[in-house]
Amino acid sequence: MAFSHLQTELTRLAHDCLLRKRVVVEDDYDGVIKVDGKHYLNFSSNDYLGHRQNQDILQSYVEGLSRYGAGSGASPLVTGHTQCHQALEDHLANALNREAVLLFSSGFAANQAVCQALLSEGDTVITDKLMHASFIDAAIHSPAQFLRFKHNDIQHAETQFSKASENASGNTLCVSEGVFSMDGDSADVSALQQLCEQHDAWLMLDDAHAFGVIGETGLGSVEAFNLSQDQCPIVMGTFGKAIGTGGAFIAGSQVLIDYLVNKAKHYIYSTAFSAAQAKATLTSIQLMQQGPARRQLHDNIGYFKSLAAVQGLPIIASDSAIQPYLINDPAKALKASDMLKSLGLWVNAIRTPTVPKGQDRLRVTISALHQQQDIESLVDGLVMMRAKLG
Ligand SMILES: Cc1ncc(COP(=O)(O)O)c(C=O)c1O
Repeated sequence: MAFSHLQTELTRLAHDCLLRKRVVVEDDYDGVIKVDGKHYLNFSSNDYLGHRQNQDILQSYVEGLSRYGAGSGASPLVTGHTQCHQALEDHLANALNREAVLLFSSGFAANQAVCQALLSEGDTVITDKLMHASFIDAAIHSPAQFLRFKHNDIQHAETQFSKASENASGNTLCVSEGVFSMDGDSADVSALQQLCEQHDAWLMLDDAHAFGVIGETGLGSVEAFNLSQDQCPIVMGTFGKAIGTGGAFIAGSQVLIDYLVNKAKHYIYSTAFSAAQAKATLTSIQLMQQGPARRQLHDNIGYFKSLAAVQGLPIIASDSAIQPYLINDPAKALKASDMLKSLGLWVNAIRTPTVPKGQDRLRVTISALHQQQDIESLVDGLVMMRAKLG
């Protein structure tokens, strides 16, 4: 029978406690979700600033919808690029001190586009081992030599740079996440930047979880590490997390952006996201830069960390909104997540292959929406779960 391996593989995944299933969210407001008729405090969302339901952002959305319609109606190179998209690109380029910015319908598409458009035979791409699947997948399928270094291990990165200069004749691109999506820790950006400088390589940062969270005005790694365009020629950021809308951007030189406009298939052959989304995204970024939600987020992160430390919970060291609780076994991680659900706490279990084998975890995320008592309930729940799970 054709494609009979589909069912075989699903059966194997279920047997190994690795089958993924979706839930249907019936309501979602103010940090509380409703699933199967029950309400839960949500500690799994990437809406770190609580911007998804901010009234000013929603108002911008509504204005954009009434003026430009529900969708963009075309790819950006046809008629899908409106003055709302241009205003968003201009604002980002100016804020990040870059010559130009290009919008993508998702961070996944942006990462894939960089690999597809920039990497050729003879080039080398060097990434942190924990780099996001959207980049790794494209790097594997690119014609470039692909080297990875152990997570945040600069010595190993240096070894890979030496290998790159031995083997390759072309360009080298070194890529890391600014804040890692599953561990929540930060890259040693300054050390990576120096390595790139020594080896005449380009540095690219995927700031999906840093943009809106780190840096004096929330602009991410570029601001936190004061990186000029020469020091970090490619910055990728997403709007679906702290910014609360959707889509992504790449910031860099005018030549880079012009090149992507001409060569990046994920840009050229895809419908632009709506003008309304661009307008709402710009409002969200402006609000984010003003600061109150970011300050609240960091207060909440600090509060969670202090309570977790008192209880000796096995949280990976992180100053970001991502505070992973290590469990190291997929079946136990699922059980832990279910136990927390029974206490009204929603914390997703993250299993391999999203994280390395044996590093299964609860990916706790903190938001500016959480109240102190929500965080206290979470820590109480984690302590009870640990006692029951053993
Ligand atoms: C580090 C990282 N890069 C890229 C992406 C993809 O972004 P998007 O959700 O906009 O496709 C994600 C999303 O989970 C991510 O965590």
